[in-house]
Amino acid sequence: MAVDVVILAAGQGSRMRSRQAKVLHRLAGKPLLGHVVDTAARFENAQITVVVGYGAEGVRACFADRPINWVEQTKQLGTAHAVAQALPWLRAGARTLILYGDVPLITFSTLQVLVEVCDDDTLALLTARVSDPSGYGRVIRNRYAAVEAIVEDRDATPTQREINEINTGVMCVGSDLLRALLPKIDNRNAQGEYYLTDLVGLVKAAGKAIRTSAPASLLEIEGVNTRMQLAALERAHQKEIAASLMDQGVSFADPARFDCRGRLSIGTDVFIDINSVFEGEVEIGSGTSIGPNCSIANAVIGEGVVIKANTVIEGSIDAPVIVANDVQVGPFARLREGTMLAAGTRIGNFVETKKARLGEGSKANHLAYLGDAEIGTGVNIGAGTITCNYDGANKHKTRIEDGAFIGSNSSLIAPLVIGNGATVGAGSAIAKSVPSASLAVARSAQRNIPGWKRPQKKPPEGK
Ligand code: UD1
Ligand code: CA
Repeated sequence: MAVDVVILAAGQGSRMRSRQAKVLHRLAGKPLLGHVVDTAARFENAQITVVVGYGAEGVRACFADRPINWVEQTKQLGTAHAVAQALPWLRAGARTLILYGDVPLITFSTLQVLVEVCDDDTLALLTARVSDPSGYGRVIRNRYAAVEAIVEDRDATPTQREINEINTGVMCVGSDLLRALLPKIDNRNAQGEYYLTDLVGLVKAAGKAIRTSAPASLLEIEGVNTRMQLAALERAHQKEIAASLMDQGVSFADPARFDCRGRLSIGTDVFIDINSVFEGEVEIGSGTSIGPNCSIANAVIGEGVVIKANTVIEGSIDAPVIVANDVQVGPFARLREGTMLAAGTRIGNFVETKKARLGEGSKANHLAYLGDAEIGTGVNIGAGTITCNYDGANKHKTRIEDGAFIGSNSSLIAPLVIGNGATVGAGSAIAKSVPSASLAVARSAQRNIPGWKRPQKKPPEGK
């Protein structure tokens, strides 16, 4: 079935006190509107139209790569007026599904049910029973429980205000029916706005059907008007993500101190300590543990890996960080884009890697920079080793072959090859390749001066 999705996003959201359009504020790392667009796009034959107003340029730019029809509502004259801007895009014989750009957690399954109860001659409303209905439009039903009207909070009588079934704002209606009735809506009400909810009376008067369905969870209909509400929704959403991961066999030291701002797929018996943040696309294999205060973006992490406290993993979508099984990383390590660690490798504290591949069992346990480096198996990188990969203009590669040993505090000035089983003496500045099985030492020779005395302290002046 063709579903014409109309997303209302023209409001300024003045209570956010922001220069940015409200729908660009982020929940779980994604703009509010992005959540709605992604959910809407799951309908097979969907066409998405977004009504923008305040900050329209910025909103469009943020979604430039998405197939969206943009319509502008320069003055926010009400929800019916907003939908009217999208009328030219509605397809004959389709259903129109109306969503809000600032209600991010609506689920596909809830929308599917709503779309299913809707047909050409029907208005289907998503309604919910809430403990505090204030501010919402109330659903008025007759004694046969049929919907008679939606009355806005400001237009409601005290008795109507007692009703706790509310209009979530989400609705689905036959596109042709909508096209016929929308122009009949006027703005004679408490706010002088064109109310989309007046559609209820018009549909009824036209002798067409009105149906309702309910969301699976109240979180789905929660809107964002303030930064406080945004933060509360973020926490509630993170709690849901943590709960679903726990169902899949993940343990958390504290699920309330966990943040996922992307897609996280995790095996079983993974342990996640407090305050870690996951961004982009992250995969974690079974039996792996993530220490406290880690930041992990765009990474594929194997099984039985131990990531210790305060480790930062910063892969990119194009060059994710890849960590094989049984690797140990951290504490305080930084793995940047294009890092590939083979099984059993170890990266210790204050080691930074970028476009570096380490073969099986290789180790860099302390204080090193390994950039643009191809490192074989069983290599030991001493503390303080730096691959000098940048000459001020270009980047160069360092290759360190199997079984090599790099002494502490060595500068490896690329381009360079350290051969199989070669050794670099501590404190060397190596600018020429080292043949396999040989020792390279490049530091000034040591002099010992017998009987040398340290300078004595001068006596104070005037004595
Ligand atoms: C609307 C409903 C109300 C419902 C509530 C749910 C109407 C008349 N009322 O009320 O029954 O309980 O939502 O939250 O529909 N928008 C535009 N252009 C406009 C006006 C609004 O794009 O001219 C957008 C806003 O940016 C927002 C959404 O539509 O995303 C809802 O607008 P809002 O002003 O919050 O509606 P309410 O008056 O709260
Ligand atoms: Ca509102």
